[in-house]
Amino acid sequence: MPEPYVHLPAAEILESLDAFSETEIKQLRGSWDGLPVDRFMKDGAGYRRRRYSEFHLNRARLVRAPHRAFRQSLAVNPLHGGVSRKFEPIEQEVAESPLLEALVRTLLTRLPGTFDTATGAIGIHQIRIVASRDGSELPAPEGIHEDGHHFVAQVLMLRKDVEGGVSHVYDRNKAPLYTTLLTEPFETVIIDDRRVFHGVSAVEVAGDMPVGVRDMMLVDFFPRAAGALGEASRAAS
Ligand SMILES: [Fe+2]
Repeated sequence: MPEPYVHLPAAEILESLDAFSETEIKQLRGSWDGLPVDRFMKDGAGYRRRRYSEFHLNRARLVRAPHRAFRQSLAVNPLHGGVSRKFEPIEQEVAESPLLEALVRTLLTRLPGTFDTATGAIGIHQIRIVASRDGSELPAPEGIHEDGHHFVAQVLMLRKDVEGGVSHVYDRNKAPLYTTLLTEPFETVIIDDRRVFHGVSAVEVAGDMPVGVRDMMLVDFFPRAAGALGEASRAAS
């Protein structure tokens, strides 16, 4: 059994993307500039911005599934679980980008365990935390938590003028297992969400800067849901 998490240096991810130009990579990272505010934050704060779409790897292509709400159980997420959160979908240009697909494929080869893409789904979150001088912002207000998936890749896209945002991995007794600070774009931690808990510390604006930004791509790997979505994707294929 491999360790329940892996920490991948940015260089390793970027090497796998060397078929893509700097401009293409810049365009993908730039898409975080257009994220709408996450309206489902319980504290009503506007510091978390977000888009989400679900994908399937069908016939060797990454294909977007019909848009639907992101849902976690209350047991998994006592703060935001139990409600359907219909985030704005990922923009078409990003969703259909070969670079996004290549990145997902790279992550698939680095998972700390096995995942069957024929029966699995892939959820992609684009998330921006905007830290201002008003105070520290919690990227994951849930604290030490699990996401309810099989694997979750946490890919840093941008870290600018912020402090904090330390990534933590815990064992199933919530004892600390691994701590790291993602600093380089594309530096990644992938966890086996069934074997560990995780959390991230507050993000604060650095020094005298008026505002700071931390952009993450979270990639969830989980079994495809039976029922409505399965029916819809069968009807569409
Ligand atoms: Fe999480």
